[in-house]
Amino acid sequence: MRIRPENTHDAHAIRSVQYHAYNEHQYSYLSEYKIVDALREENALALSLVAEDERDGVIGHATISPITINGNGVGWYYLGPVGVLPEHQKHGVGSALITQAVRATYGMGAKGLVSQGDPRFFKRFGFRNDTRLSYNQVQPEHVVMIPMGKEVPQGAVALHPAYFIS
Ligand SMILES: CC(C)(COP(=O)(O)OP(=O)(O)OC[C@H]1O[C@@H](n2cnc3c(N)ncnc32)[C@H](O)[C@@H]1OP(=O)(O)O)[C@@H](O)C(=O)NCCC(=O)NCCS
Repeated sequence: MRIRPENTHDAHAIRSVQYHAYNEHQYSYLSEYKIVDALREENALALSLVAEDERDGVIGHATISPITINGNGVGWYYLGPVGVLPEHQKHGVGSALITQAVRATYGMGAKGLVSQGDPRFFKRFGFRNDTRLSYNQVQPEHVVMIPMGKEVPQGAVALHPAYFIS
C-alpha cells in the first residue's frame, strides 16, 4: 500500500471509496462522495491523497481544503472527508492517510489544520481539542486542530460551500 496525491484518473475510484466508507456511518448524509468532486470543480481541493493497494487499487482517500475563520481566509485548512473501504479498515490505512495529510499540510506552509471527530483518535496524529474554534453544530469537544503557525485564531470555522451540496 502506498499513499500518493490523486491523479487525473482517480476521480471515479475516489468517489467509490468515499461512498462506501460513509455508507453506513451514523453522522453521514451520504453526500461525502460528492464533496471531493465539487471541491475539485471549484479549485478548492488543496490536497487529495489516495491510498493505493497493489491488488485492489484505490482503497482510501483523504481530503484537505481551505477554510475561513470568522469569514477570513487565514491560511487554515480542513481535513475531511477521510474514507477507507470497509473491507480495508482497521489495517492502518486511515492512519497512514491522515499522517501523510498532516505532513503535506505543514509542507504547504499552512497556519493550521482543523477536523472533527473523536479527539482520542485524532490525538495520535498531533491534533488536540481547542474550544477557541467552533464549527456549526459539532460538539465543541469534537472540534480538533493542529496549529502550524504561531497563533490560534478564535471564532467560527466555515468550510467551503462545496461541502454543502446535497
Ligand atoms: C475512520 C477511518 C478513515 C479509519 O480508517 P482505518 O483504515 O480503519 O484506520 P486505522 O486502521 O488506521 O486505525 C484504526 C484505529 O482507529 C480507531 N478509529 C477509527 N475510526 C475512529 C473514530 N471515528 N473514532 C475513534 N476511533 C476510531 C479504531 O478503533 C482503531 O483503533 P486502534 O488502532 O487502537 O485499534 C475509516 O474507519 C472510515 O473510512 N470510516 C468511515 C468514514 C469516517 O468515519 N471518516 C471520518 C474519519 S476522520
